[in-house]
Amino acid sequence: MKAIRTGATPSTLEALEYVDIDDAKAPGPGEIIVALKASSLNYHDYAVVRGMIPTPQGRIPMSDGAGEVTAVGDGVTEFSVGDSVVSTFFPEWLDGAPLSSAFTGVPGDGIDGYAREHVTASAASFTRAPTGFSHAEAATLTCAGVTAWRALFVDYSLKPGDTVLVQGTGGVSIFALQLAKAAGATVIATSSSDAKLERVKELGADHLINYKEVEAWGPRALELTGGRGVDCVVEIGGAGTLDQSMLATRIGGHVALLGVLAGMAGPVQTALLFSKNLKVQGLTVGSRAMQLDLIAAIEANGIRPVISDSFAMQELADAFRHQEANKHFGKIAVEIG
Ligand SMILES: NC(=O)c1ccc[n+]([C@@H]2O[C@H](COP(=O)([O-])OP(=O)(O)OC[C@H]3O[C@@H](n4cnc5c(N)ncnc54)[C@H](OP(=O)(O)O)[C@@H]3O)[C@@H](O)[C@H]2O)c1
Repeated sequence: MKAIRTGATPSTLEALEYVDIDDAKAPGPGEIIVALKASSLNYHDYAVVRGMIPTPQGRIPMSDGAGEVTAVGDGVTEFSVGDSVVSTFFPEWLDGAPLSSAFTGVPGDGIDGYAREHVTASAASFTRAPTGFSHAEAATLTCAGVTAWRALFVDYSLKPGDTVLVQGTGGVSIFALQLAKAAGATVIATSSSDAKLERVKELGADHLINYKEVEAWGPRALELTGGRGVDCVVEIGGAGTLDQSMLATRIGGHVALLGVLAGMAGPVQTALLFSKNLKVQGLTVGSRAMQLDLIAAIEANGIRPVISDSFAMQELADAFRHQEANKHFGKIAVEIG
């Protein structure tokens, strides 16, 4: 079968290889074979293929995988041949509290991922896909969808009437916008691009801020809430945006700290954090149970993932260049086979 492998250590986009690898092995007890049809790009995958996260040479990238079950091993009762399924980010984290801070079991990072045509894997490392979804749509849920879900509904308890601030228009933020609107929240969306802000408005964003033009977007968000502050921020920037996020948030509000796009480390206004009685909650994606809850929610609310661009698996390097150039809106899909 065909696959993409990293071809250098540290990995570079130029060295990604489109190769033939061994076919998937027969499923053992509790395993399934999935004919993978789609994946989708996350910043985490970009960090792997750009060598920012060290992985062994020859790693098959991509944490997201969706496709069709073609064989089931003994004892598998949840899936049958022909079912549409989507992978989970942490194959061993089924439910409950996070198991580990390590990424050693994460496909496309600690173990081989889903830039390939078939995989034999534990049935528990996949869930059903939402009814009526294309494989490309289903693949967007594994990382970006589950992260947005957990930020708003697991670590924070979003309720109708709350105000949520989402930063930028990438995969996690667009899911957060869609889920927050479906839950009856008011959404403040930021972007570096007025054209992208027009698109988030079409998706239901109530207030728009161009964060390049309005550097003090935290106080601007505060103003937009009549001085009260937002209830929850989906913080994808990290060190470089956290202070503005804290300025935007209400007393006792919640900051879901999950990204690094504006820096991995930096000074933080700790006095602001405690004087506003803020909760800053770090998170890494979520469990299989959270993915199933997300799927139920998006089916009930008719949410469809926003995919701005699609590339064939053999064009994976170009897909990442597209992401790097910030040309996407929501998700970039990868079609396999
Ligand atoms: N902890 C977790 O569980 C978890 C899970 C998923 C992702 N993440 C992290 O979350 C971040 C986003 O991931 P993603 O996959 O959604 O990325 P993505 O789809 O590549 O999104 C990138 C978008 O972020 C926006 N952006 C970039 N710098 C920004 C800044 N300084 N302020 C505000 N927005 C900015 C840009 O939007 P505009 O073009 O509109 O400006 C850009 O298009 C990454 O750091 C990723 O590692 C973490």
